[in-house]
Amino acid sequence: MKLLVTGGAGYIGGIVTRMLVDAGHEVVVLDDLSTGHTEALAPEATFVNARVHDAAQVLTPAAGFDGVLHFAAFIAAGESMTRPELYWENNTVGSLALIDAARAAGVRRFVFSSTAAVYGNPTELPIPESAVKAPTNTYGATKLAVDMALTSEAIGHDLGAVSLRYFNVAGAYLRDGVQLGERHDPETHLIPIALQVAAGRREKLQIFGDDYPTADGTCVRDYIHIEDLARAHLLALEAARPGEHRIYNLGNGNGFSNRAVAEVVREVTGRPVPVEIAPRREGDPAELVASSDRARTELGWTPAKPTLHDMVGDAWAFYRSQILEKA
Ligand code: UFG
Repeated sequence: MKLLVTGGAGYIGGIVTRMLVDAGHEVVVLDDLSTGHTEALAPEATFVNARVHDAAQVLTPAAGFDGVLHFAAFIAAGESMTRPELYWENNTVGSLALIDAARAAGVRRFVFSSTAAVYGNPTELPIPESAVKAPTNTYGATKLAVDMALTSEAIGHDLGAVSLRYFNVAGAYLRDGVQLGERHDPETHLIPIALQVAAGRREKLQIFGDDYPTADGTCVRDYIHIEDLARAHLLALEAARPGEHRIYNLGNGNGFSNRAVAEVVREVTGRPVPVEIAPRREGDPAELVASSDRARTELGWTPAKPTLHDMVGDAWAFYRSQILEKA
């Protein structure tokens, strides 16, 4: 297929592009490099430096695209509470422009990076796709708005849409001499920050809140390996059917508290990770754990690296070789 990948210079978009190219697809990456890195770009893909808002420049009827995979977004849940306008403009307004361009270009398949954050504080655990959607942060709200727009688009204009609701993505892609991993600046995610502490690049790990209604009082998240997540995108692309909006949660069904994550980072790195309890971060749900039964049944998706040790191990290997040694 000929595919447009937005956000293909990012952590997840870059790795999915690598796998799409390896599977024989023709890929055009659209990314404004606002948070992405040219190192993450697959050399076989054509790169266009532009915002998603301007996707119509590339996504023309004559270009013959079969599908769009839409990753480009701002992703920091904490920041989305202090600078919400950035998130609405980039994530929601940008996505609506992209959907308009896809419609005008006659694109039939659309795979969207949605999020577990759409559920807010879940009313049932593990969370099925049918659970109540009540985001507690702006980030989740901006993604839920796009999910709803895709449902309308599928019904009204026969789009084949798939939303993948990621739980917490971790690990790296380390194959055939290619090393792709997480590299945000500033880093906001728990595992890469804990690795910076283990590497001595940061004094301590601040854990945001230990008074949540969980076993040890810290928030609980369900981690998924980037390779398993990426593979689900290729399956979703094949599964897209005109007139249907399919939605799949992607996680392993295991919850790890923030304290437990720090402990796994200590075990994997063999280094100390000093922890300090800090105030809660605005908008954080207490516990997010996925039911991915639907993805397993309908997409035939099976995670190959379900353990947190595998994820932290791969993230640590990437961090040491690509960040510490090149600094
Ligand atoms: N946390 C800390 N200290 C830090 C960083 C994070 O205690 O320095 C905590 C957070 O408060 C939260 C947990 O670690 O309790 C995980 O936080 P992350 O920022 O790593 O991830 P989030 O759960 O906020 O969000 C991530 C992605 C979203 C995705 C979501 C799905 O950023 O894009 O997972 O669950 F949608």
